[in-house]
Amino acid sequence: MSRADRPIGIFDSGIGGLTVIHALRQLLPQEDLVYLGDTARLPYGTKSHRTIERYTLQMGELLQRHEPKLIVIACNTASAHGLPALQAVSPCPVIGVIEPGAEAAAEVPGPVGIIGTLATVSSAAYELAIRRRDPGKVIHSVACPLLVPLAEEGWFDDPVTDSICRRYMNELPFEVKTVVLGCTHYPTLMTSLERSRPGTRWIDSGRVTAKAVDRMLQGTLGYRTAGARGSLRVQLTDASSRLKEVGSRFLEEALGDVEVVEI
Ligand code: DGL
Repeated sequence: MSRADRPIGIFDSGIGGLTVIHALRQLLPQEDLVYLGDTARLPYGTKSHRTIERYTLQMGELLQRHEPKLIVIACNTASAHGLPALQAVSPCPVIGVIEPGAEAAAEVPGPVGIIGTLATVSSAAYELAIRRRDPGKVIHSVACPLLVPLAEEGWFDDPVTDSICRRYMNELPFEVKTVVLGCTHYPTLMTSLERSRPGTRWIDSGRVTAKAVDRMLQGTLGYRTAGARGSLRVQLTDASSRLKEVGSRFLEEALGDVEVVEI
């Protein structure tokens, strides 16, 4: 099989990365995608650098079975802590969601807010990536650890989610008009986030990553040659009965068969 016809491998700490799959399938519908979610070990966002880096390397190795032309780390936390380590050993190119998100944030004038897991915010990965592009950029970061469980629970439009979003968003100064959704799960909470901070420009790091993938395929990697809609294979390290229901909300289409793989 030619390199262009190989699948793109995407991984996340759980099913949240299906929001990135949704963005990829919208922009690049002809690509074959293999999704690997580490549901057995979720969350990554509360773990240490060493553990997240080790998990990232293991997920990358599991994806190599599919001989991907490119690996996308859909997880912000794994991108923040494990990207260089995986890039150093992977036989194919690897990209994360932080650089594309930071690039989009650096292009917008004025101060920006970053919201993410505890591990992503404490890594300062977004700040570093934005300041590399705009050293004077004013950046305010807020860790929002309660948002992942709310999204996993499927409370996408709920007064409890509204109140928690409001509490976190109130930690950002009033002058912040642009906020990076620095976590796979947050796009599903847009209704509450918008209610908590009307008029904000939200940067969905998954959506801008899909554009970065498109640019890479346009370059040396190449698009899949078949014109038909590409396949989506979903593999998880553990599968509960609720996954299908919540996963479909993240993916914005029915989640087909899910394979369980050993980590
Ligand atoms: N996927 C993670 C991220 O984007 C959120 C879930 C977790 O903590 O593992 O940061």
